[in-house]
Amino acid sequence: MERKIILEGDPILRKISKEVTVFDARLHDLIDDMVDTMKKAEGAGLSAVQVGVLKRVFVTDVGKGVTEFVNPQIVKQAGTNKIKEEGCLSVPHKFGFVERPDTVWVTYQDRYGKLVTDKLKGYAAKAFCHENDHLDGILYIDKASKIKPC
Ligand code: CO
Repeated sequence: MERKIILEGDPILRKISKEVTVFDARLHDLIDDMVDTMKKAEGAGLSAVQVGVLKRVFVTDVGKGVTEFVNPQIVKQAGTNKIKEEGCLSVPHKFGFVERPDTVWVTYQDRYGKLVTDKLKGYAAKAFCHENDHLDGILYIDKASKIKPC
C-alpha cells in the first residue's frame, strides 16, 4: 500500500533513525509499502523516514530490481562516482550535483534479519549512499554543489 512521502521542510527528515531489532510482520508491511511508494513515485530509492518511520531501513531500485536494506552500514569506500546528478522524492522538481564514492563495501540485514555483505558500484553505490544519509537526517541538498529546477 502506498504511503505519503514527507517533503523537505518537515523536521522529521532531520532526525536520526533507530536500529531495527524486531524483524516481524510490521517491518515487512513497512518494507512492502515502501516498495509500492517508491515504484508509484518512479524513484530509485526510498528511506523509511521519508514515510514518517524512524527505522534504519531503505529500499532501492537502480534498474535491476528492488533491494531491501535493514540496518545498513558502509564498511569501506573507494573512488569517485562518475554520476553526479542526484534527486530525491522528498525534494521534488529539483536535482543537484553530489560527489559520491564509486565503490562501497556494505553490510546490512534482510527483512528476516539475515546479515548480508556486498560490494556496490556506480549507480548502486550512489543510491546506497544517498539513502544511508537519510537515516542520519542528511539530505543530498546539504552536500550538493549546485541545485537546479527540473
Ligand atoms: Co532521498
